[in-house]
Amino acid sequence: MRIVLLGAPGAGKGTQAQFIMEKFGIPQISTGDMLRAAIKAGTPLGLKAKEVMDQGQLVSDDLIIGLVKERIAQEDCANGFLLDGFPRTIPQADAMKEAGVAIDNVLEFAVPDEEIVKRMSGRRVHPSSGRVYHLVYNPPKVAGKDDVTGEDLAIRVDDEEATVRKRLNIYHEQTEPLVAYYQAAAKAGETQYNTIDGTQSVEAIGKELTAILA
Ligand code: AP5
Ligand code: ZN
Repeated sequence: MRIVLLGAPGAGKGTQAQFIMEKFGIPQISTGDMLRAAIKAGTPLGLKAKEVMDQGQLVSDDLIIGLVKERIAQEDCANGFLLDGFPRTIPQADAMKEAGVAIDNVLEFAVPDEEIVKRMSGRRVHPSSGRVYHLVYNPPKVAGKDDVTGEDLAIRVDDEEATVRKRLNIYHEQTEPLVAYYQAAAKAGETQYNTIDGTQSVEAIGKELTAILA
């Protein structure tokens, strides 16, 4: 099963990725998490990506496409994977097509911009695993601590309101065209496409996804 999660920053991709990964036993490939890990490790990729990401801009297609191709060639992706935050531009989607990587299911999370701005201010993350929480909507069991490791949670550098608004603009300009792109692919029978109302509760969305993917 090869799945693409499509949606604006803060639409809930990472939150539901966690759920799908556990339920269906396929690895989550979050390009955002991979880049943040590279920044933390101080690799050449991380050094290139840091400034761009902190400002809410997109990292270059070439870098990202290389990163994803390398990752999906690994053994644990043989039975499928879940792409979270990729593709994010038409060239990235074309690169998958050209590499012969067929996508079974595209899941689009629809959430209005203003709701997203509200959500981001309450987001807390566990940096090393990518687990995501929200102070009000999805709180950790112990305040400020990751449920699994008990380690400290952090605020993402790019979650400041001005940066979130910039990321939303970039989403509308560069990523949203993928909605029509994959809907056309679905019409041609190349993939399945589902739009999910991402303003529902985390649990309600999880149930809807279970029904879609069953
Ligand atoms: P990335 O890490 O992918 O960020 P993003 O797409 O902007 O998405 P987010 O992680 O912000 O949101 P999400 O949809 O995962 O929401 P979440 O579940 O956390 O990318 C970061 C940067 O890396 C990019 O800006 C770019 O620079 C670079 N990059 C990455 N991929 C790239 C690519 N392919 N090409 C070029 N550059 C790339 O939820 C958000 C909050 O809401 C949380 O607090 C959560 O608890 C809460 N929440 C979730 N669901 C619900 C719900 N149903 N109800 C209430 N609250 C909810
Ligand atoms: Zn995410």
